[in-house]
Amino acid sequence: MSKSEPVTRRTILKGIVAGAGVAAANAFMPRCFAASAPTKVKLGLMLPYTGTYAALGKNIDDALRLAISERGGKLGGREVEYVVVDDESEPAKGAENANKLVSRDKVDFLIGTVHSGVAMAMVKVATDNDTILVIPNAGAAAATGAACAPNIFRTSFTNWQPGFAMGKVMAGRGLKRAVSVSWDYAAGHESMGGFKEGFATGGGSVEKELALAFPQVEFQAILTEIAATKPELVYTFFAGAGAVKFVKDYAAAGLKNSAPLVGAGFLTDGTLQAQGDAAQGIETTLHYADGLNVPKDKTFRAAFKKATNRDADVYAVQGYDAGQLLAVGLDAVKGDTSARKEMIAAMEKAEIDSPRGRFTLSKAHNPVQDMYLRKVAGLENKFVSVAVKALADPARGCKLV
Ligand code: BEZ
Repeated sequence: MSKSEPVTRRTILKGIVAGAGVAAANAFMPRCFAASAPTKVKLGLMLPYTGTYAALGKNIDDALRLAISERGGKLGGREVEYVVVDDESEPAKGAENANKLVSRDKVDFLIGTVHSGVAMAMVKVATDNDTILVIPNAGAAAATGAACAPNIFRTSFTNWQPGFAMGKVMAGRGLKRAVSVSWDYAAGHESMGGFKEGFATGGGSVEKELALAFPQVEFQAILTEIAATKPELVYTFFAGAGAVKFVKDYAAAGLKNSAPLVGAGFLTDGTLQAQGDAAQGIETTLHYADGLNVPKDKTFRAAFKKATNRDADVYAVQGYDAGQLLAVGLDAVKGDTSARKEMIAAMEKAEIDSPRGRFTLSKAHNPVQDMYLRKVAGLENKFVSVAVKALADPARGCKLV
C-alpha cells in the first residue's frame, strides 16, 4: 500500500480485521495510520508570490494558514502539509503548475489563485482529476459558470459582482455617461461587463471600454483618451501594483475632479499606503470594507496583524475563508477525504462566519454576499452603505443551477 493511498474507512477496517497483532495490522493499514497518527492533509497552494499580484498572494497564503493554525494546525483531525507553487500570475504556466501539484505532489486539495486566467487552468486540471479546488480570489465567471462543477468552490467573488454593484450605485445617482478602463483579460472584461449591466439599469451607457495588456502600466494614452471623451465618471478594474500606479497617474493627469474615478474595490484595497493622497475620496464597491462592525472582523484583523505585522485586506479575508471552508468539509468527514460526497455536501451547505459578514454559497459554489459601497478616507476604505444586499452571481451556463 503506497504512502499516498487515501485514508478510507474501508482501508482502516481492512487492516483491523486482517491483523491479529499490531505488526500484522500494520502490513494492511495505510502507513498513515500504522503509527496511530493519520497522514497529513496535503494542500497545494498555487498563488502569485512574485509580480504585480505578489502582495495579494502573500495575504491569501498567510490568512489561510492563520485559519488553520486557529484550529491547532489541523483539518478534520489531521495535520496539514502545504505544498507551495509561485504561479507568477502567468496563465501559460497554469496547467503545468497545477498538474505538478496534483500528479507529482499528490495534493488532496488545490487552493488558488489570484489571476483569472491562471485560475481557469486550475479549474481544468481540477476537473480532469476530480480534485477539489478552492479559489480564494480569481473572479473568472466560468469557474462558477459554464465550467462549474461539484468539486470547484470559490470563497471570493465573481468579477461581475462588484462591477454590477457599482453600476447600480452610479445609475442611482442619475449619471449617464461613463468610460471603463482595465487590463485586457477575463477579469477586466467581466468587471467592466458587470458595471455596464448595473449602469444600464438606470439608463446609463458606457461610451468606451479601454484596455491595455496585463500587467502593463503605461497609462498615458488611455488617460489622454479619457480627457478627450469627457465622461461623467470613469469605472476601473485594476489591482495590486497596477492599481497603485493607475490611481497616482489619474490624479497626476488632473482628471480626478472632472471625471470622478470609481471602481471594483481592488483599486484601493491593500494599496492605500502606496497611493497616498491620490486615492483620497475614491469610491469603490466590494464585499469587504473598513468599519463593518462585524465581530468576526475585529478578532480576525487583530489575529492577522499579530501573525504578520500587516493589516488585513480583502485578499486576507478570502484566504481565511478558504481555510474555514476546508475546515467545514474535512471536519464533516473527520478527515476522511475519500468520503467525497459528504465532504462536498458539507461545503455546499456551509454558512461561513466571515470577517466580511456571514455568507453562504450559491448552487454554483460562489459566495452570495452583500456588496458594500466604500470611500477612501486616510488609510481606510470606509464603509458607506450596502450597495446591493445578498448579491448572487447569475452563474450563466452553470449546469448545477
Ligand atoms: C482576477 O484576475 O480575477 C483578479 C485579480 C486581482 C484582483 C481581483 C480579481
